[in-house]
Amino acid sequence: MRMILIGPPGAGKGTQAQNLVTQFGIPHISSGDMLREAVAAGTELGKTAADFMKRGALVPDDVVIGMVIERIGKPDCARGFMLDGFPRTRPQAEALDEALARASVALDAVVLIEVADELIRERVTGRRSDPVTGAIYHIKYKPPPPEVVDRLVHRADDTEVACSERLDKYHRDTAPIIPFYAARGLLKRVDGVGTPEEVLMRITAALQTVQSTSPTSAQDQAAPDQADQADQADQADQAAS
Ligand code: AP5
Repeated sequence: MRMILIGPPGAGKGTQAQNLVTQFGIPHISSGDMLREAVAAGTELGKTAADFMKRGALVPDDVVIGMVIERIGKPDCARGFMLDGFPRTRPQAEALDEALARASVALDAVVLIEVADELIRERVTGRRSDPVTGAIYHIKYKPPPPEVVDRLVHRADDTEVACSERLDKYHRDTAPIIPFYAARGLLKRVDGVGTPEEVLMRITAALQTVQSTSPTSAQDQAAPDQADQADQADQADQAAS
């Protein structure tokens, strides 16, 4: 399965990816995580990215494209991958297309997690991440256990001001690439409002209809009721696009 998770900041892409990659047995490739690692390591790429990220601006395409295209060329991506946070601009989408064409492979699905801006602000400002386990918590929706509270991180771009900037960038630069994937029949729209478990069920259902170019454990485990939900999701998708 080669797929993309797309959606506004704080929609739950990272939360859902943690479950989905286990189901599908594919690597989770988060451009945001890669950039944060580069910043923490003090690499040249990280130094370039740091200021853009703190402000909630997009890191320039020429920095991000090379980083992600190189990553999906690694051997662990041969059976598929889950991209999270990339592509975010039209040039990034086109660069991904070219790289996949060069490798004679294709995308199987693009899952759009939809959440309204008002809810996004609350999700982003309340997020806390565990640097040891990678777990993502929320002070209201997913409170952390007391023993990890002292080591949790509040991301520098999870302020009200940076969140507004990120939402602005999402609507201006990222949302316009959604029709690009809808036109190819790859887009699966999923309502991101509800518990993380409910959202996961919706995504799993939507993916049951995908004819992956590589076999996955999730498709082998398809349940009949999930297939029904997937049909409904597909009909809604066609109606929306
Ligand atoms: P990135 O790390 O990609 O950030 P993002 O897209 O803004 O996404 P987030 O990580 O903020 O949110 P998420 O959707 O993963 O939500 P999560 O699951 O954590 O990028 C950061 C920055 O790096 C960018 O601003 C940019 O500067 C740069 N960058 C990265 N990629 C780039 C690219 N391709 N091009 C250029 N620049 C790039 O959930 C959020 C919170 O909500 C958590 O607290 C969680 O517990 C909670 N939550 C999740 N699901 C639910 C639910 N169903 N109900 C209630 N709460 C929930």
